[in-house]
Amino acid sequence: MSQNERIAHSKITRKFKSEGRQLLFSQGRGGEVQDANGMTYIDFVMGYGPVIIGHADDLFNEIVRGHLDNGVMMPGYTTFHQEYLERLLGNRPGDRGAFFKTASEAVTAAFRLAAMQTGRLGIVRSGYVGWHDAQIANSLKWHEPLHSPLRERLKYTDAMRGIGESEPAVNWVDLRLETLSELLERHRDRLGCFVFDAYLASFTTPEVLRRAVAMCREAGMLTVFDETKTGGRISPLGYDHDNAIGSDLVVIGKALANGAPLSILVGNAELLAHAERARLSGTFSKEMIAVYAALATRDILEKPVGESPDGWAEIGRIGTQVASVLSAAATEAGVGSLVGARPVLGGGMFELVYHDDGLLGDKDRREALLGALTGAGILLLEGHPSFVSLAHRDIDWSDLHDRARQAFEQWSTSTGAGRG
Ligand SMILES: Cc1ncc(COP(=O)(O)O)c(C=O)c1O
Repeated sequence: MSQNERIAHSKITRKFKSEGRQLLFSQGRGGEVQDANGMTYIDFVMGYGPVIIGHADDLFNEIVRGHLDNGVMMPGYTTFHQEYLERLLGNRPGDRGAFFKTASEAVTAAFRLAAMQTGRLGIVRSGYVGWHDAQIANSLKWHEPLHSPLRERLKYTDAMRGIGESEPAVNWVDLRLETLSELLERHRDRLGCFVFDAYLASFTTPEVLRRAVAMCREAGMLTVFDETKTGGRISPLGYDHDNAIGSDLVVIGKALANGAPLSILVGNAELLAHAERARLSGTFSKEMIAVYAALATRDILEKPVGESPDGWAEIGRIGTQVASVLSAAATEAGVGSLVGARPVLGGGMFELVYHDDGLLGDKDRREALLGALTGAGILLLEGHPSFVSLAHRDIDWSDLHDRARQAFEQWSTSTGAGRG
């Protein structure tokens, strides 16, 4: 049995294949990764978002190594946790933070706080908010565009706890305020929490989201902005803070610690005071390696980079350029009327866009494109935003362009995509 076969994969880690075989990665450096066969890829997956500085960055490693001399776990929280929250929440004086390893944990914590505060167990969800039962049961393909035929197919419909008549988990699918109002009316008195994946802000406007949050609050619910993909990536705190959406709780995750596991639930002191009664922590909540990594990540991102005032702005510039190079390559390969790429929420993320509705609904042809890109040495995500890091500022842009063009041409020939 190969090593590869011992690993229990989720669908998400099965995406990348070469000649039908699962890729196993052995090393990362900057914006690239290598597989066990020595093939190098430009990496726009970046661990699904966490790796924001780059793989094996020298300065990051040096700072983390320096902190390691203090040990990795104490009986309780440490001066390092305290310093990190001071730096993260400096301009939100009333706020506190609770430490977790994963965002699914932090969102579950938010659900429990909401239930304690409101006495109601039901939730309204919009977006992928984690893999725990009530987060994922009966959910959709949330990253599909609103008009995609693939969007509304319900997934994970069996073997899930924590949902049902008395604790509904209802989906706000179309992001229309009228629909939200109907949901609130239909399930009134059973809904305690509204949770929104900030990535979906790219499908609507800040004004709609401010009104959605206000409506949910009027209905007596606690509101949660889930900035797992966006917090620490599109800006230090994310969309809710930058656009004054005003949610009660914010979940930040992924990009805080350049790949080390860290997620933080942010809210006012009064709300987070329930954390003790709610027993919101576990053995590893106070672990320090991720906090060292988060401090190192901030040390690097807070400084100006090139022409940009800080690392977050530079990452936005880089992702915008990647999207434009991919679109140009698609056009040159003759498939520009079918597919391109666009920056998401300022460019810290980018995504493939399908201009043709037939292609949008055709999972096989879309996956074939992912395969062609992998074959040309570009790893990115399909049906999900892709991620850039600071290290991608060193990309050889003409090499990226040539690889992408080769992939689009190969895809066009093999799937008969046609010249657009
Ligand atoms: C918006 C959002 N919330 C929650 C999660 C779950 O995070 P984790 O995988 O750290 O549990 C994710 C993961 O992709 C996410 O994108």
